[in-house]
Amino acid sequence: MQNILFVASECTPFVKTGGLADVIGSLPQALRTNEKVDVRVILPLYDEIEAEWHEQMTYETSFNVEFGWRNQEVRIYTLTHQNIMYYFVENAYYFTRKGIYGYYDDGERFVFFSHAVIEALHHLDFKPDILHAHDWQAGIAVALAKIKQPIADMKTVFTIHNIKYQGLMKLDTYADFFQLPEEHIAGMEWNGMLNCLKSALFHADKITTVSPTYAEEIKDPYFSEGLESILLEREEDLVGILNGIDTREYNPLTDPAVPVPFRSSRNKKKENKLIMQERVGLPIDADKPIYTIITRLVEQKGLHLVEHIVDAFLEENDVQLIILGTGDSEFEHFFKEAEHRHPNKLVTMLTFDEALARQLYAASDFFIMPSLFEPCGLAQLIALQYKSVPIVRETGGLKDTVHAFNELTGEGNGFSFTNYNAHDLLTVLNYSLTIYHQPLQWLKLSQNVNKSRFSWKESAHEYTTLYRELKARTLPHVESEDGLELQVQEI
Ligand code: GLC
Repeated sequence: MQNILFVASECTPFVKTGGLADVIGSLPQALRTNEKVDVRVILPLYDEIEAEWHEQMTYETSFNVEFGWRNQEVRIYTLTHQNIMYYFVENAYYFTRKGIYGYYDDGERFVFFSHAVIEALHHLDFKPDILHAHDWQAGIAVALAKIKQPIADMKTVFTIHNIKYQGLMKLDTYADFFQLPEEHIAGMEWNGMLNCLKSALFHADKITTVSPTYAEEIKDPYFSEGLESILLEREEDLVGILNGIDTREYNPLTDPAVPVPFRSSRNKKKENKLIMQERVGLPIDADKPIYTIITRLVEQKGLHLVEHIVDAFLEENDVQLIILGTGDSEFEHFFKEAEHRHPNKLVTMLTFDEALARQLYAASDFFIMPSLFEPCGLAQLIALQYKSVPIVRETGGLKDTVHAFNELTGEGNGFSFTNYNAHDLLTVLNYSLTIYHQPLQWLKLSQNVNKSRFSWKESAHEYTTLYRELKARTLPHVESEDGLELQVQEI
């Protein structure tokens, strides 16, 4: 049995702002059902977490954390949900606030969280073999695990879900946040700043990211956000493991949000289309293709490309486009105005509504996701589950999960283009429409979509293999007669 402790800042169903929460919410379950591991998760106890969860938590222990000039009390609460044990770190000063992120002292808050996690290891009955931390908010926990060694032989894994966010603070906060000798600054510093993500890259035994392609991309300055040199140094310990999707959670046959449940029937899907057209006020016509974009409206998602071509695409073609999401005001304004230019073709809904999103996946024929970069991406996997054909840019996890349809071989489950270029997006959108209007090709493509599978099973297996390799590193070494080191085999 191996004990694994996940350290993260968000996790479904308790608290979510993005894809990270989905992974932390579903990977432990997959690891647990597949293999002999006891995975637990430790999170901050935010005010934001719904009362129904707070009520189910039980008090476990409390202790003090020395943090700069402050001495903070921490209480740990636990809750078991779907067979997984969750630990919540309570500290009123740092976490009893509205929302999760967006405070001037976010850096300090998550450095504190990391300190509290490491201190908690002295107080919990659970002794991890591996501390598996995710994204910058948990990065310092990896550094402290290495430096302070709270548990002998505990190994660390750090997963990059998005290298763009690194948790940067002024270097002089080091003296304030860490009661550690100066020599440790070097491992935590980058370009004159304290950098939480880099701290983890420097100290972790293994580094993973959420798709094989992104693992390659981040070694290149175009994607690395300034960190390529440390990633190249750690290349041997860097691996890409594709995220899965919770196929019970995202299932159009059982999803209560989907008006007409379906497995793969195109006719039932069309019924969902008619309901959606009526709901959003578009002309009701089952044969008109619906394209959709469901996303945070931010640059990462490739929206500048869509801005450039949306008028041309809608003017030239008899199609409908529905956009759902909130985000940067630049994009919100643009797509709301574009709606007025294309009254019977474009609907922009500036809201985030999970049920509506699922209805849209179910109702649409095509799902557009031309990301500038995409570590893994969950939305294209949900789209495939709900039989909406993804149209993506070949980057990160999009490249690993969507394969361009080839009319000659009949292979492929979507459409894709390579360069970050609006005309290439327009070309591929137009091409998708020609396939839609060729019944035999469309049937073949739909069948390929139906066959696409992205459950957690294989990824969970890759993680357990990685954990096992790491554990093997801790087994005692003995010297053979000829002086070579031999590793004692685990029995
Ligand atoms: C981040 C990435 C996204 C990935 C998710 C979960 O949100 O931007 O691509 O799917 O993390 O790993």
